[in-house]
Amino acid sequence: MDKLVIEGGHRLHGEVRISGAKNAALPILCASLLTAEPLTLTNVPRLNDVRTMRALLSQMGVRQQSDEPDAVTLDASQIDWPLAPYELVKTMRASILALGPLLARCGEARVSLPGGCAIGLRPVDQHVKGLQAMGAEIDLTHGYINARAPRLRGASFVFDVVTVTGTENLMMAAVLADGVTTLDNAAREPEIVDLAACLGAMGAKISGAGSDRIVIEGVPHLRGTRYAIMPDRIETGTFLAAASATHGDVLVRGASIDALAAVVDKLREAGARIDVDGDAMRVRGNGELRAANVRTAPFPAFPTDMQAQFMALATRAAGASVITETIFENRMMHVQELKRLGADIEVEGNAAIVRGATRLTGANVMATDLRASACLVIAGLIADGETTIDRIYHLDRGYERIEEKLSALGASIRRVGST
Ligand code: UD1
Repeated sequence: MDKLVIEGGHRLHGEVRISGAKNAALPILCASLLTAEPLTLTNVPRLNDVRTMRALLSQMGVRQQSDEPDAVTLDASQIDWPLAPYELVKTMRASILALGPLLARCGEARVSLPGGCAIGLRPVDQHVKGLQAMGAEIDLTHGYINARAPRLRGASFVFDVVTVTGTENLMMAAVLADGVTTLDNAAREPEIVDLAACLGAMGAKISGAGSDRIVIEGVPHLRGTRYAIMPDRIETGTFLAAASATHGDVLVRGASIDALAAVVDKLREAGARIDVDGDAMRVRGNGELRAANVRTAPFPAFPTDMQAQFMALATRAAGASVITETIFENRMMHVQELKRLGADIEVEGNAAIVRGATRLTGANVMATDLRASACLVIAGLIADGETTIDRIYHLDRGYERIEEKLSALGASIRRVGST
């Protein structure tokens, strides 16, 4: 297993380009299942989760070709196996995104239940209930969701909880259903808007994506198209936090301020200077950082996927920052690791109180999930001495060449293979 070794204390400076969004790429790759014509995607990030999704689609019979870097053409003219097996689903929960499109296109689907997840229970009941409302017969046997619907029909569905992949799954199922589907209490994340735009380019009729009511008028067929995946707002936020925490000066290119306003506001509140010019953001962290309270919630509020990275920065801010996690039950595992580096953090229920400013000191730490890994990278960048981060396969799921991008910004960071 690879590790990252970071020598802390270097200010980040220079320019970095943001890759395509993981959480937009995964549903949009699954959208290829909805058409018999080729779908060409560009700005596809080179991440392990994307590789896993492509392997899953391959196994179903989707042919794929990459003629340009960062692009892939998917041809689902023939789907041999409408099946997502446990072996792949257990490594990536987003495999559940195949359920809606498979059912819509093939009339049947068999998708393994995701099983336990480190950051919380993460059930899929809303995906199942929504598809049932559209006429699907679903049973759960031998750890699999077995779904059948010769033809889905439009329905009105109100989500009990705001779910991102749940909204995406039902949206993809509804585009080929008979009649109109209305999804209420839908998630409003920018990745949902990106998926709707791709589906729209394929001929789907969707309105309201980005609001909590999405209306989809089913069509008999979708066509192929060429579509560029949006930039990754969480990667952007991670570089903004890393630059601020190291008192750096970094120009982040290919970003979207609209998708990241809550994070930019909090970083400014904490003392970072952020100037926006089109799709470029310059972040400067030259003054002293101040404590800021953060509460995660569905978009447009502060994203849970930035909570851990913000916590690393908060260790360097003067005063007490209260960081409250409201989306997942168990997303504070990075706290123990930050404490190993000398952070002063107390957890009470779903809130962490971070008292700063602390000088972190390098140590061996372990990555426990994707965003916790990014938190530890930022902590390593500001800690005195050497930090070694173990189990960075989590990081490779969601960040493209992070050590190369950080090295180019002046960080001392290297990947070492296990002995
Ligand atoms: C997506 C993102 C993930 C992000 C999360 C929250 C992708 C591939 N992943 O995950 O990076 O952290 O949104 O912004 O886009 N829930 C239920 N029943 C359901 C579905 C969800 O109770 O059927 C609950 C979950 O347990 C959780 C909350 O709803 O507490 C939000 O989860 P959800 O939005 O579904 O997260 P994901 O879509 O899995």
